[in-house]
Amino acid sequence: MEQFVIKGGKPLTGSVEIGGAKNAALAIIAAAIMTDEDVVIENLPNVNDVNVMLGAIEDIGAKVERKDKHTVKVNGATIGSLSVDYDYIKKIRASYYLLGALLGKYKKAEVALPGGCAIGARPIDLHLKGFRALGATVDTKYGLVSAEAERLIGNDIYMDKVSVGATINIMMAAALAEGKTIIENAAKEPHVVDVANFLNSMGANIRGAGTDVIRVVGVEKLHGTEYSVIPDQIEAGTFMCAAAATHGNILIKNVIPKHLEATSAKLIDAGCIIEEYDDSVRVIATNVELQHTAVTTLPYPGFPTDMQPQMTVVLGLAHGTSTVTESIFENRFKYVDELSRMGGHIQVESNIAIITGVDKYTGARVSAPDLRAGAALVVAGLSADEGVTVVDDIHYILRGYEDFDGKLRALGANIELVNSEREVQKFILQVS
Ligand code: UD1
Repeated sequence: MEQFVIKGGKPLTGSVEIGGAKNAALAIIAAAIMTDEDVVIENLPNVNDVNVMLGAIEDIGAKVERKDKHTVKVNGATIGSLSVDYDYIKKIRASYYLLGALLGKYKKAEVALPGGCAIGARPIDLHLKGFRALGATVDTKYGLVSAEAERLIGNDIYMDKVSVGATINIMMAAALAEGKTIIENAAKEPHVVDVANFLNSMGANIRGAGTDVIRVVGVEKLHGTEYSVIPDQIEAGTFMCAAAATHGNILIKNVIPKHLEATSAKLIDAGCIIEEYDDSVRVIATNVELQHTAVTTLPYPGFPTDMQPQMTVVLGLAHGTSTVTESIFENRFKYVDELSRMGGHIQVESNIAIITGVDKYTGARVSAPDLRAGAALVVAGLSADEGVTVVDDIHYILRGYEDFDGKLRALGANIELVNSEREVQKFILQVS
């Protein structure tokens, strides 16, 4: 069982290169099968979730050829099955994007119904409402969602709640529907825009992505393309928080600073200095006494829920009382108990974490409850100058961060990925 072991207390300094956005990549891989021509996707992060998604499209018959670590060529001409196995949906909920992609292209799809997950219930009713509005018959039984249509016909679809997944899924199906679809109250996240740009590069006609009204004029078919995935705003934000929590100074390269504005604004509130360049940001927290602030997660351009645990870790070290309100998912504070074991003073009431800042965390043995919370616990460990932190269940972290420990070591962190208790003990001996 893989674990991270960390001896913290060192300010992180230097520069780090951010990879492609995992969440954009997952949808783009699904959308890539919507043509029979070759699609080359560049800047794919080499993380487990992406590899599972590539496995899922291969499993239904698509050809997947790895050109290099971050580039893949996909061809969807050989798809033989329209049914995606439960094994994939179990590993990554985002395999539900294959519903929109297959329904759009073949007018038929069957995908296992995703269950709840670590951070909340996460229903897919809005996805299904959208497919129905396009004329599909949607059925959920025996743990499967099946969608089928003689013809998909464009329609006006109002999203009752802002949903990234539903917006993207409906956009994909509508790209190959007849006529015009208008998605109102659409999600505006950078990866919604990236998927729309990707589909447009395949010949789709999608306008307005990045605003709350997306207009899709269906086309008959899509063609091949070469496309580079946008940088991962959450990976970048995590390193920004690592700079803040360790009182370091990090240049975060290959980012779109605009996508990081919500995180930057809160780190500035907390007393950090942020310098923005064309495609990088520098976070300076050396000699800064972190200050309390209030954060509420919201759909983009609000503060991202996927940055909530990392920011909570930073505010746990800030002078005064901070609040973090989680408004997207109902169960996203599970890591707080782990953080308390590291000396954090955080009380959760309903969807609000009330944080009384402490001077420092102390190393402890903790478990990653999910992907982003796991990364946040690593950040906490990096800031703890007493004791050693051992993070269990890091398979969650490896789902979404490429070479996390390697990138942190390059910034001066003392972190190792270990495989056994013997290696843990060896690390502890080495650092004590
Ligand atoms: C995506 C991201 C995830 C991020 C989340 C919010 C991917 C692969 N994952 O997840 O990392 O945390 O956006 O930014 O891109 N909802 C419904 N009905 C639905 C769909 C969603 O009620 O049919 C609710 C959800 O329970 C949640 C809210 O809407 O409360 C937002 O969820 P959504 O934006 O859909 O999240 P995902 O697309 O699953």
